[in-house]
Amino acid sequence: MERTLLAPVEKTETEKIIYSRRAVRRYKNKPVDRQVVEEVLEAGRMAPSAMNRQPWQFYVLTNKETIKAFSKEIAGVAMKGALRSGVSGIAQMLKAASGLLHLSRGVDLHAIKDPVFYGAPVVIFLTARRDNEWASLDIGMCAQNIMLAAKSLGLDTCPVGFGKFVEKTKIFPRLHVPASEEVKLAIILGYGDESPEVHERTRDNLLFID
Ligand SMILES: Cc1cc2nc3c(=O)[nH]c(=O)nc-3n(C[C@H](O)[C@H](O)[C@H](O)COP(=O)(O)O)c2cc1C
Repeated sequence: MERTLLAPVEKTETEKIIYSRRAVRRYKNKPVDRQVVEEVLEAGRMAPSAMNRQPWQFYVLTNKETIKAFSKEIAGVAMKGALRSGVSGIAQMLKAASGLLHLSRGVDLHAIKDPVFYGAPVVIFLTARRDNEWASLDIGMCAQNIMLAAKSLGLDTCPVGFGKFVEKTKIFPRLHVPASEEVKLAIILGYGDESPEVHERTRDNLLFID
């Protein structure tokens, strides 16, 4: 199908999913079927990867109490990092550690209760081998596949970079991540309970070269 930007055309189903995905930070108290989790992870596995190494490993939390415990530990570690980073970095780090950096509209009680995973029913840690120089790019692509597949199935997500701090928590061994792997990102998954506004995208970043 040939298209030009001048002709207003209906978005494809794929585009509709891409455009409707948001970072969602408030979730219904509704569990996600394991089969659905497996389905979105399968979409993650379909991502391209450098030299087809498929470096991703998934560590999934679905138990409320366990998620709460990890969230608390990660928030604690982030706070300590803030204190160590000195006065200039403190405000920024504390804001981030409390989740407030990422809130689109003011203080949210859900976020204060769980500033890392926002009460989501599923947390997925994505890891990859430390000795793979392309792993971060591959994980990014895998993560986007997961988030778009989730959206197409009626679920919402938020990538949580803060998940990386899990490596510094005392409960990290509960994930059974081997030392050869690094936690690259966490993704939270669940049935969203908010409809965040679209963040305006900057468009001064395009140059066609003759
Ligand atoms: C690598 C990465 C790390 C992120 N880490 C966090 C995080 O720790 N906490 C959070 O609330 N949002 C986090 N986000 C979500 C971004 O804040 C969000 O994607 C951005 O504001 C754009 O909003 P949108 O996804 O709704 O378009 C992260 C996003 C990315 C891509």
